[in-house]
Amino acid sequence: MNVLGKALLGFWESSIGKKLIVAVTGIMLVGFLVAHMVGNLLIYQGRESLNDYAYFLHHFLHGWGIWLFRIGLIVAFVLHITATISLVRQNRAARSSRYAFDATVQAPRSSRMMIWSGLTVVGFVIFHLLHFTVPVDPELANMKDPMDPSRHDVYGMVIEGFQNPLVVLFYIVAISFFCTHLNHGISSLFQTLGLRSEKTRGVIGKIGVAVTIVLWLGFLSIPFLTSVNVLKDEGVPDKAAAHGAPVENVTGS
Ligand code: HEM
Repeated sequence: MNVLGKALLGFWESSIGKKLIVAVTGIMLVGFLVAHMVGNLLIYQGRESLNDYAYFLHHFLHGWGIWLFRIGLIVAFVLHITATISLVRQNRAARSSRYAFDATVQAPRSSRMMIWSGLTVVGFVIFHLLHFTVPVDPELANMKDPMDPSRHDVYGMVIEGFQNPLVVLFYIVAISFFCTHLNHGISSLFQTLGLRSEKTRGVIGKIGVAVTIVLWLGFLSIPFLTSVNVLKDEGVPDKAAAHGAPVENVTGS
Protein backbone atom coordinates (compact mmCIF):
# COMPACT_ATOMS: atom_id res chain seq x y z
CA MET A 1 0.00 0.00 0.00
CA ASN A 2 1.34 3.46 -0.86
CA VAL A 3 1.86 6.29 1.65
CA LEU A 4 -1.46 8.00 0.84
CA GLY A 5 -3.37 4.72 1.19
CA LYS A 6 -1.73 4.04 4.56
CA ALA A 7 -2.49 7.57 5.79
CA LEU A 8 -6.16 7.26 4.75
CA LEU A 9 -6.50 3.84 6.38
CA GLY A 10 -4.87 5.15 9.57
CA PHE A 11 -7.28 8.11 9.56
CA TRP A 12 -10.29 5.83 9.06
CA GLU A 13 -9.14 3.42 11.78
CA SER A 14 -8.63 6.14 14.38
CA SER A 15 -11.61 7.14 16.48
CA ILE A 16 -11.05 10.87 15.92
CA GLY A 17 -10.76 10.30 12.14
CA LYS A 18 -14.16 8.60 12.09
CA LYS A 19 -15.71 11.27 14.30
CA LEU A 20 -14.45 13.93 11.91
CA ILE A 21 -15.95 12.04 8.97
CA VAL A 22 -19.32 11.83 10.78
CA ALA A 23 -19.15 15.57 11.58
CA VAL A 24 -18.08 16.80 8.13
CA THR A 25 -20.54 14.59 6.24
CA GLY A 26 -23.23 15.63 8.78
CA ILE A 27 -22.55 19.30 7.91
CA MET A 28 -22.84 18.46 4.19
CA LEU A 29 -26.16 16.64 4.75
CA VAL A 30 -27.59 19.50 6.85
CA GLY A 31 -26.49 21.90 4.07
CA PHE A 32 -28.39 19.77 1.56
CA LEU A 33 -31.49 19.77 3.79
CA VAL A 34 -31.51 23.55 4.18
CA ALA A 35 -31.11 24.01 0.40
CA HIS A 36 -33.78 21.36 -0.32
CA MET A 37 -36.23 22.96 2.10
CA VAL A 38 -35.69 26.46 0.65
CA GLY A 39 -36.15 25.04 -2.88
CA ASN A 40 -39.37 23.26 -1.81
CA LEU A 41 -40.77 26.47 -0.34
CA LEU A 42 -40.92 27.86 -3.91
CA ILE A 43 -44.17 25.90 -4.08
CA TYR A 44 -45.77 28.87 -2.28
CA GLN A 45 -44.79 31.10 -5.23
CA GLY A 46 -46.71 28.85 -7.57
CA ARG A 47 -46.27 26.30 -10.33
CA GLU A 48 -43.96 28.33 -12.53
CA SER A 49 -41.38 29.04 -9.79
CA LEU A 50 -41.17 25.44 -8.54
CA ASN A 51 -41.09 23.93 -12.03
CA ASP A 52 -38.46 26.45 -13.24
CA TYR A 53 -36.31 25.53 -10.24
CA ALA A 54 -36.71 21.75 -10.82
CA TYR A 55 -35.95 22.27 -14.53
CA PHE A 56 -32.79 24.19 -13.64
CA LEU A 57 -31.64 21.43 -11.22
CA HIS A 58 -32.05 18.78 -13.91
CA HIS A 59 -30.34 20.77 -16.67
CA PHE A 60 -27.47 22.76 -15.19
CA LEU A 61 -24.03 21.83 -16.59
CA HIS A 62 -25.91 20.12 -19.45
CA GLY A 63 -27.55 17.67 -17.03
CA TRP A 64 -24.23 16.67 -15.42
CA GLY A 65 -24.68 19.03 -12.47
CA ILE A 66 -27.38 16.98 -10.76
CA TRP A 67 -25.35 13.78 -11.16
CA LEU A 68 -22.22 15.35 -9.65
CA PHE A 69 -24.38 16.59 -6.80
CA ARG A 70 -26.05 13.18 -6.36
CA ILE A 71 -22.68 11.39 -6.26
CA GLY A 72 -21.47 13.83 -3.57
CA LEU A 73 -24.68 13.31 -1.60
CA ILE A 74 -24.50 9.49 -1.82
CA VAL A 75 -20.82 9.46 -0.80
CA ALA A 76 -21.58 11.74 2.19
CA PHE A 77 -24.60 9.63 3.18
CA VAL A 78 -22.73 6.29 2.96
CA LEU A 79 -19.64 7.62 4.79
CA HIS A 80 -21.86 9.16 7.49
CA ILE A 81 -23.62 5.83 8.12
CA THR A 82 -20.56 3.56 7.88
CA ALA A 83 -18.39 5.74 10.10
CA THR A 84 -21.22 5.98 12.67
CA ILE A 85 -21.78 2.20 12.76
CA SER A 86 -18.06 1.60 13.04
CA LEU A 87 -17.75 4.12 15.91
CA VAL A 88 -20.66 2.54 17.77
CA ARG A 89 -19.02 -0.91 17.42
CA GLN A 90 -15.64 0.44 18.53
CA ASN A 91 -17.22 2.11 21.60
CA ARG A 92 -19.22 -0.98 22.45
CA ALA A 93 -16.11 -3.19 22.28
CA ALA A 94 -14.17 -0.74 24.49
CA ARG A 95 -17.06 -0.60 26.96
CA SER A 96 -17.59 -4.36 27.17
CA SER A 97 -13.88 -4.97 27.84
CA ARG A 98 -13.91 -2.23 30.51
CA TYR A 99 -17.03 -3.66 32.16
CA ALA A 100 -16.40 -7.34 31.46
CA PHE A 101 -18.20 -8.38 34.65
CA ASP A 102 -21.11 -5.97 34.48
CA ALA A 103 -23.82 -7.48 32.29
CA THR A 104 -26.15 -4.52 32.83
CA VAL A 105 -24.01 -1.97 30.99
CA GLN A 106 -25.78 -0.69 27.87
CA ALA A 107 -25.10 1.90 25.21
CA PRO A 108 -26.29 5.35 26.37
CA ARG A 109 -29.99 5.98 25.64
CA SER A 110 -29.23 8.88 23.32
CA SER A 111 -26.92 6.83 21.10
CA ARG A 112 -29.50 4.03 20.87
CA MET A 113 -32.09 6.64 19.92
CA MET A 114 -29.68 7.95 17.26
CA ILE A 115 -29.44 4.50 15.69
CA TRP A 116 -33.23 4.05 15.60
CA SER A 117 -34.01 7.56 14.36
CA GLY A 118 -31.16 7.17 11.81
CA LEU A 119 -32.76 3.97 10.51
CA THR A 120 -36.07 5.85 10.16
CA VAL A 121 -34.23 8.41 8.02
CA VAL A 122 -32.97 5.65 5.71
CA GLY A 123 -36.51 4.20 5.42
CA PHE A 124 -37.97 7.64 4.78
CA VAL A 125 -35.41 8.51 2.08
CA ILE A 126 -36.10 5.25 0.21
CA PHE A 127 -39.88 5.90 0.31
CA HIS A 128 -39.40 9.56 -0.64
CA LEU A 129 -37.18 8.74 -3.67
CA LEU A 130 -39.81 6.29 -4.93
CA HIS A 131 -42.51 8.89 -4.29
CA PHE A 132 -40.99 11.94 -6.02
CA THR A 133 -37.59 11.29 -7.65
CA VAL A 134 -38.32 8.09 -9.58
CA PRO A 135 -42.08 8.03 -8.94
CA VAL A 136 -43.40 4.48 -8.99
CA ASP A 137 -46.92 5.88 -9.33
CA PRO A 138 -47.37 6.41 -13.11
CA GLU A 139 -49.87 9.21 -12.46
CA LEU A 140 -47.20 11.22 -10.60
CA ALA A 141 -44.43 10.23 -13.03
CA ASN A 142 -46.33 11.37 -16.12
CA MET A 143 -47.60 14.77 -14.98
CA LYS A 144 -46.77 17.46 -17.54
CA ASP A 145 -46.50 21.16 -16.84
CA PRO A 146 -49.69 22.62 -18.42
CA MET A 147 -47.77 25.80 -19.35
CA ASP A 148 -44.93 23.84 -20.97
CA PRO A 149 -45.86 20.19 -21.63
CA SER A 150 -42.24 19.35 -22.54
CA ARG A 151 -41.32 19.41 -18.85
CA HIS A 152 -42.35 17.53 -15.71
CA ASP A 153 -44.99 19.16 -13.49
CA VAL A 154 -43.19 18.89 -10.14
CA TYR A 155 -45.71 21.34 -8.59
CA GLY A 156 -48.70 19.19 -9.59
CA MET A 157 -46.86 16.01 -8.54
CA VAL A 158 -46.18 17.29 -5.01
CA ILE A 159 -49.77 18.43 -4.49
CA GLU A 160 -51.19 15.22 -5.96
CA GLY A 161 -48.63 13.19 -3.95
CA PHE A 162 -50.04 14.55 -0.68
CA GLN A 163 -53.71 13.82 -1.39
CA ASN A 164 -53.49 10.51 0.49
CA PRO A 165 -53.83 11.11 4.28
CA LEU A 166 -51.73 8.00 5.05
CA VAL A 167 -48.84 9.39 2.99
CA VAL A 168 -49.15 12.72 4.82
CA LEU A 169 -49.17 10.92 8.17
CA PHE A 170 -46.09 8.94 7.16
CA TYR A 171 -44.24 12.16 6.23
CA ILE A 172 -45.24 13.81 9.52
CA VAL A 173 -44.07 10.87 11.66
CA ALA A 174 -40.89 10.18 9.65
CA ILE A 175 -39.80 13.82 9.42
CA SER A 176 -40.49 14.31 13.14
CA PHE A 177 -38.25 11.31 13.98
CA PHE A 178 -35.75 12.61 11.56
CA CYS A 179 -35.73 15.98 13.35
CA THR A 180 -34.94 14.34 16.70
CA HIS A 181 -31.95 12.72 14.99
CA LEU A 182 -30.90 16.06 13.58
CA ASN A 183 -31.26 17.91 16.86
CA HIS A 184 -29.04 15.47 18.71
CA GLY A 185 -26.67 15.21 15.75
CA ILE A 186 -26.09 18.96 15.55
CA SER A 187 -24.95 19.24 19.17
CA SER A 188 -22.75 16.10 18.92
CA LEU A 189 -21.22 17.60 15.83
CA PHE A 190 -20.07 20.67 17.76
CA GLN A 191 -18.64 18.41 20.45
CA THR A 192 -16.74 16.35 17.87
CA LEU A 193 -15.28 19.50 16.38
CA GLY A 194 -14.16 20.51 19.88
CA LEU A 195 -16.43 23.56 19.93
CA ARG A 196 -18.68 22.50 22.81
CA SER A 197 -17.65 23.56 26.29
CA GLU A 198 -19.49 24.39 29.51
CA LYS A 199 -19.66 27.99 28.29
CA THR A 200 -20.98 27.28 24.77
CA ARG A 201 -23.23 24.30 25.62
CA GLY A 202 -26.36 26.47 26.06
CA VAL A 203 -25.92 28.43 22.82
CA ILE A 204 -25.13 25.29 20.84
CA GLY A 205 -28.24 23.57 22.20
CA LYS A 206 -30.31 26.55 21.07
CA ILE A 207 -28.74 26.58 17.58
CA GLY A 208 -29.55 22.86 17.24
CA VAL A 209 -33.16 23.39 18.32
CA ALA A 210 -33.61 26.46 16.05
CA VAL A 211 -32.23 24.72 12.92
CA THR A 212 -34.36 21.66 13.65
CA ILE A 213 -37.58 23.65 14.18
CA VAL A 214 -37.05 25.67 10.98
CA LEU A 215 -36.50 22.46 8.97
CA TRP A 216 -39.43 20.69 10.64
CA LEU A 217 -41.84 23.55 9.94
CA GLY A 218 -40.46 24.24 6.44
CA PHE A 219 -40.71 20.61 5.31
CA LEU A 220 -43.95 19.65 7.03
CA SER A 221 -45.86 22.80 6.10
CA ILE A 222 -46.18 21.42 2.54
CA PRO A 223 -47.85 18.03 3.22
CA PHE A 224 -49.86 19.53 6.09
CA LEU A 225 -51.24 22.54 4.19
CA THR A 226 -51.98 20.32 1.17
CA SER A 227 -53.89 17.84 3.31
CA VAL A 228 -56.13 20.60 4.72
CA ASN A 229 -56.64 22.01 1.21
CA VAL A 230 -54.96 25.38 1.90
CA LEU A 231 -52.22 24.57 -0.60
CA LYS A 232 -53.94 23.35 -3.75
CA ASP A 233 -53.50 23.17 -7.49
CA GLU A 234 -55.25 26.31 -8.73
CA GLY A 235 -54.86 25.32 -12.38
CA VAL A 236 -53.09 27.50 -14.93
CA PRO A 237 -53.18 31.24 -14.27
CA ASP A 238 -54.24 33.53 -17.09
CA LYS A 239 -50.78 34.92 -17.86
CA ALA A 240 -52.04 38.16 -19.40
CA ALA A 241 -54.34 38.87 -16.46
CA ALA A 242 -51.61 37.87 -13.99
CA HIS A 243 -49.28 40.49 -15.49
CA GLY A 244 -51.90 43.21 -15.36
CA ALA A 245 -52.61 43.36 -19.13
CA PRO A 246 -56.09 44.50 -20.11
CA VAL A 247 -58.38 41.53 -20.68
CA GLU A 248 -59.46 41.25 -24.31
CA ASN A 249 -63.09 41.55 -25.16
CA VAL A 250 -63.76 38.05 -26.36
CA THR A 251 -67.11 38.88 -27.86
CA GLY A 252 -65.47 41.46 -30.13
CA SER A 253 -68.14 44.08 -29.44
C1 HEM B 1 -42.27 17.16 2.92
C2 HEM B 1 -41.22 17.75 2.51
C3 HEM B 1 -40.51 17.41 1.23
C4 HEM B 1 -40.93 17.64 -0.05
C5 HEM B 1 -42.22 18.31 -0.51
C6 HEM B 1 -39.89 17.15 -0.93
C7 HEM B 1 -39.94 17.20 -2.31
C8 HEM B 1 -39.05 16.61 -3.16
C9 HEM B 1 -39.17 16.55 -4.59
C10 HEM B 1 -40.33 17.14 -5.40
C11 HEM B 1 -38.11 15.88 -5.08
C12 HEM B 1 -37.82 15.54 -6.57
C13 HEM B 1 -37.18 16.73 -7.25
C14 HEM B 1 -37.00 16.48 -8.72
O1 HEM B 1 -36.55 15.39 -9.11
O2 HEM B 1 -37.27 17.38 -9.50
C15 HEM B 1 -37.29 15.51 -3.95
C16 HEM B 1 -36.09 14.84 -4.04
C17 HEM B 1 -35.32 14.48 -2.95
N1 HEM B 1 -35.61 14.72 -1.62
FE1 HEM B 1 -37.21 15.68 -0.88
N2 HEM B 1 -38.88 16.64 -0.17
C18 HEM B 1 -39.22 16.76 1.15
C19 HEM B 1 -38.48 16.34 2.26
C20 HEM B 1 -37.26 15.72 2.17
C21 HEM B 1 -36.46 15.33 3.32
C22 HEM B 1 -36.84 15.55 4.79
C23 HEM B 1 -35.34 14.73 2.82
C24 HEM B 1 -34.16 14.12 3.54
C25 HEM B 1 -34.23 13.38 4.59
C26 HEM B 1 -35.43 14.74 1.37
C27 HEM B 1 -34.49 14.21 0.53
C28 HEM B 1 -34.59 14.19 -0.85
C29 HEM B 1 -33.60 13.60 -1.74
C30 HEM B 1 -32.30 12.90 -1.29
C31 HEM B 1 -34.05 13.78 -3.06
C32 HEM B 1 -33.37 13.34 -4.36
C33 HEM B 1 -32.60 14.53 -4.94
C34 HEM B 1 -32.11 14.17 -6.33
O3 HEM B 1 -32.88 14.20 -7.28
O4 HEM B 1 -30.94 13.85 -6.45
N3 HEM B 1 -36.61 15.37 1.01
N4 HEM B 1 -37.87 15.96 -2.79
